[in-house]
Amino acid sequence: MTMILDGRAVSERRLALLKEKMAAQGVSPGLATVIVGDDPASRTYVRMKHQACEKVGIRSAGIEIPADRTTEEIIDEIRRLNSDPRIDGILVQLPLPRSINTPSVIESVLPSKDVDGFHPCNLGRLFSGMAALTPCTPLGIINLLGEYAIPLEGQNVVIIGRSVDVGRPLAALFMNRDATVTVCHSRTKALAVTTKSADILVSAVGRAGFVTKEMVRDGAVVIDVGINYVNGNLCGDVDFPGVRDKASFITPVPGGVGPMTIATLMENTLRAAVKEQ
Ligand SMILES: NC(=O)c1ccc[n+]([C@@H]2O[C@H](COP(=O)([O-])OP(=O)(O)OC[C@H]3O[C@@H](n4cnc5c(N)ncnc54)[C@H](OP(=O)(O)O)[C@@H]3O)[C@@H](O)[C@H]2O)c1
Repeated sequence: MTMILDGRAVSERRLALLKEKMAAQGVSPGLATVIVGDDPASRTYVRMKHQACEKVGIRSAGIEIPADRTTEEIIDEIRRLNSDPRIDGILVQLPLPRSINTPSVIESVLPSKDVDGFHPCNLGRLFSGMAALTPCTPLGIINLLGEYAIPLEGQNVVIIGRSVDVGRPLAALFMNRDATVTVCHSRTKALAVTTKSADILVSAVGRAGFVTKEMVRDGAVVIDVGINYVNGNLCGDVDFPGVRDKASFITPVPGGVGPMTIATLMENTLRAAVKEQ
């Protein structure tokens, strides 16, 4: 029987634990979000992050920067946050407007406050198998699999998508846990042949209905990272009705990877705060 990986329930539980842990440690971390311009999707994500902060008792500050500001002006704001002792974590909501040099902005965040884990220093540490602040969506996926005691060692993992925010760090996390990892992308030949070899299949493409049942091995674990809207309805990359009967475990969208991402951001913020102290 297929089991749903309930990211919403797991994230609620982890957030409650986090709240207890913060109280026990007597810490009250501070998170600053930086949003440039007024992209509606980015505003929604940032609002959800602030709501999660409120729920667990993390202080949060929202910095809103008009879209016409230069890269240097944004970096100046981040430097101010870097040196503010009340701020433990800094999250720059991506994507930034096209006029902005995104890598420079990411590199301007102090690695110890980089709760998104996108700074090359943190990514390099992750790829070296060292402790690091780790990107929230990939780590959230690993935590979700862990909560359901799904083994990773020796498993064949296929990830569709090689982005710096999802596919690449996720590949490193799986490798660090002794899985055998294949990363696919838009130039991959015979994609379905590769995906059918997966014990664990992750889709991070951003295309509704992309993963069909023909691409999935019987009994595979299927993780759907995609966020797509079809006729105003949120859905993932996976053709859920077709794939669910073949999978042993599957994440729904909504209620799978998304809530885990936010819970992991909260956990990263506490990690950043504790390291500072
Ligand atoms: N739930 C969450 O918390 C969360 C977090 C982050 C992202 N997301 C969602 O996850 C999805 C992916 O995000 P992202 O930032 O990784 O996106 P991205 O940067 O656009 O990367 C998409 C990846 O899919 C690959 N791809 C595109 N068409 C393909 C095809 N026909 N066959 C195989 N691979 C193909 C691309 O290949 P190339 O590299 O060759 O172009 C690329 O590597 C989006 O829907 C995003 O909204 C969700």
